Amino acid sequence: MDKFIIAGNGPLHGEIDASGAKNAALPILCASLLSDEPLHVSNVPKLWDVNTTRKLLLQMGCAVEQPTPHEMVIDAKPITTCVAPYELVKTMRASILVLGPLVAARGEAHVSLPGGCAIGARPVNLHLMGLEAMGAEIKLEGGFIHAYARKLKGARIVFDTVTVTGTENLMMAATLAEGETVLENAAREPEVVDLARCLRAMGARISGEGTTTIRVQGVAALHAAQHSVLPDRIETGSYLVAGAATRGRVRVNKTDPAMLDAVLVKLQQAGGKIATGPDFIEVDMQGKRPLAVNIHTMPHPGFPTDMQAQMMALNCLAEGVGVIKETIFENRFMHAQELLRLGADIRIEGNTAVITGKERLQAAPIMATDLRASASLVIAALAADGETFIDRIYHMDRGYEDIEGKFAALGARIKRVAKLM
Ligand code: UD1
Repeated sequence: MDKFIIAGNGPLHGEIDASGAKNAALPILCASLLSDEPLHVSNVPKLWDVNTTRKLLLQMGCAVEQPTPHEMVIDAKPITTCVAPYELVKTMRASILVLGPLVAARGEAHVSLPGGCAIGARPVNLHLMGLEAMGAEIKLEGGFIHAYARKLKGARIVFDTVTVTGTENLMMAATLAEGETVLENAAREPEVVDLARCLRAMGARISGEGTTTIRVQGVAALHAAQHSVLPDRIETGSYLVAGAATRGRVRVNKTDPAMLDAVLVKLQQAGGKIATGPDFIEVDMQGKRPLAVNIHTMPHPGFPTDMQAQMMALNCLAEGVGVIKETIFENRFMHAQELLRLGADIRIEGNTAVITGKERLQAAPIMATDLRASASLVIAALAADGETFIDRIYHMDRGYEDIEGKFAALGARIKRVAKLM
């Protein structure tokens, strides 16, 4: 297992390019299962989760080509099995995204139940409820979800909780169902919109994506298509927060400011000067210490839970007291324990964290606990005195392309070392 050694060395300065969005690439790659013709996806980020999805598709029998490192062409015609095994699902919960496409296109799916997860229970009941409403027969047996349907039927589905992958799974399933499906209280995340665009390029009839009501008119078949994945707003936001927390100036290119409204408001409140163009965002702290900000995580367009940990790191270094309320996942403050080891002042009460900023943090050995938590630890380490060792950075490789290369381009002293034992 690799780890990072990070030397806290002052403000980050410079510019980097955003990669394609992990959370759009994963459902889009799974959407290839809906057609017997190839799907050509570009701007695919080089990540472990993408690699896991590739393995998942390969073991089902799909033909997967990678003409360049950021492109994938998937042909699901030769598929031989509709199984997503535990070995792959346990490493990536988003494997559940094969469920809807497989039932819709192949009439059956056998997907291992994802099981426990570091950031909370994360059930998939809404995915199953939706497929049942569309006529699928679902059995839970031997740790697997077994789903069968000769032909799915359009239905009106009301989500009682906003779910991103639930919306995506049912939107994909509905493309091949008989008649109209209406998804109410649907997720409005930009990645849902990107998936809808890709599905439309494949011949699906979808409207309303980006609103709380998505309508899908089923068609008989989907066809070959090309799609370029949208930029990663969470990666973008993570580098901007790193710039702000270190009192620096960071510009992220090849991104889309429209997707980050809630994050940019908070960076502005923290004292950052924000400049945006059609495809870039720059935050400039003009050498000043950030001000503490209050955050309440919400489904899009609210403040994303995937940016909560990074903002906690910023609050640890800010002037004043910041309150963070996590409303999406019940166990998403594990990074707080590690930040405490760096000398942060954080008090947790239920789903609320009260953070009193410190002028500096001090280096210590710490451990990444989940994907976004790990980004917050890097941010804190960059602003700590001394050398911080971060263990279990495989979490980061799941969702951040070339994280050390990009941080190094901003002037960070970050080194990856292979762990000897
Ligand atoms: C997706 C993102 C993840 C992000 C999360 C919230 C991907 C691959 N992952 O995860 O990065 O943190 O959205 O923005 O896109 N819930 C249920 N029943 C269900 C499904 C969800 O109760 O069937 C609950 C969850 O426990 C959670 C809430 O709904 O409390 C939101 O979860 P959801 O949007 O489904 O998260 P994911 O799609 O897994």
